[in-house]
Amino acid sequence: MMASRQSGNNAQEAASPLASPPHSNIASIIPSLPLETRCPPFPLRRYANFWVPEVILKADLPGIHSCFKPRPTDVFVASFPKSGTTWLKALAFATLKRSTHPPLDGDHPLRRCNPHDCVRFLDANFNQQKDELEALPSPRVLATHLPYSLLPGSITGDRERSGCRIVYVCREPKDALVSAWLFTRKAASALGADARSFTIQEALELFCDGRCMCGPQWEHVLQYWEESVRRPDRVLFLRYEEMLIDPEAHVRKLAKFMGCGFSEEEEEHGVVSAIVELCSLGKMRDMEVNRNGSNMLGVKNESYFRKGVAGDWSNHMTPDMAQRLDKVVEDALQGTGFSFTSKA
Ligand code: A3P
Repeated sequence: MMASRQSGNNAQEAASPLASPPHSNIASIIPSLPLETRCPPFPLRRYANFWVPEVILKADLPGIHSCFKPRPTDVFVASFPKSGTTWLKALAFATLKRSTHPPLDGDHPLRRCNPHDCVRFLDANFNQQKDELEALPSPRVLATHLPYSLLPGSITGDRERSGCRIVYVCREPKDALVSAWLFTRKAASALGADARSFTIQEALELFCDGRCMCGPQWEHVLQYWEESVRRPDRVLFLRYEEMLIDPEAHVRKLAKFMGCGFSEEEEEHGVVSAIVELCSLGKMRDMEVNRNGSNMLGVKNESYFRKGVAGDWSNHMTPDMAQRLDKVVEDALQGTGFSFTSKA
C-alpha cells in the first residue's frame, strides 16, 4: 500500500514536485528557502520537502531540467549518499559494458579509474560536464543522488513514454548515517569545510530532522520504492544488506533489468562471478587508482571504500541513539507499507 503524504512549512515547499516540476527560475527563490549550515560540507536548502545542497539547486538542477537529454537506453544508478552507490556504479557499469570490457580484461576501465569516474553523477557540475555526458556512447550508465521527485519528467517517464531505467540502492538508516558521518569527517577538508569537530551526536540530531544531504533519508528511499512498486520494469529497488549476502544473484537481477541478462555460455564461463570479484570491496580498494588517486574536487578515492558491512553503526552509536533514530524512521514510515527491515 502506498500513502500519499506531504509535509512542509510554507507554500513554496508544499507544492509537490510530482505534481508540478521544479521551478525553472529556482535560482531566484533560493534565498527565500530554509537554510541549514550545520551539516558539513555544504549549505543545504529545503526545497520541495528535501534538504538539497544549495550548489545543486543553483546550478545543476535548472541545467538538468532544461538541457539534459536522456536516452531510452540510459541506466541511472540512484541512491541516498553513503548507501552503496560506488559499488552499484561499478556493478552496473561492469555488467552493462561487458561485451566491450570483459571483466577479466587487464585493462578494464574499473582497473584504471574509480567507479565515480566511470559512472558520472548527473547532479555534480552538470553544466561543466554536459557535453561530455552527451558524447558518451549508448548505453550510458549515469548516477544521481537527487530525490525521485526532483528528477525531470524526461528521466522518470512522466513526460516521455519510454523513460530511462533506474536502479536504486537503499541502506539501513543507521549505517547510512554512520558511513556519511565518517566520510564527511574525512573528506570535508577537500571540499573546503572543517568537519573534524562534527560529532556523531550532532550528525544524528540533524539526520533525525531530515537535515542532511538529500534528506530526509527515509523519504528519499520511500519515493524510489513506491516508484519501483508502480513501475517495476523501469525502477529496480535493491537493498545494500541483501547485496552483501548474495552479490551474484543481484548482478543477475541487475543484468536482466537492464535488458542484458547473462547467456548460458556466460554463466558457464563464470562471467557473473568475475564481475562480482572485479567490483568487490577488497579488489577495488587495492587498485592503485583507488589507493592513491583523488577526484577533481580533491577527495581521495580511498575515502569511498571503508568497511562495507551491515551493522557497523553499533561501533559508533549508543543503543539510545539507535533507538531514537529507529523511532523517528518507524513513525515516518507508518502506513506506507515500506520497512527497512523486511522485504515490503
Ligand atoms: P561503510 O562506510 O559503511 O564502510 P557510497 O558508495 O554510497 O558512498 O557508500 C559508501 C559505503 O559503501 C561505504 O560503507 C563503503 O565502504 C561501501 N562500499 C564501497 N565500495 C564497496 C564495495 N565494492 N562493496 C561493498 N561495499 C562497498
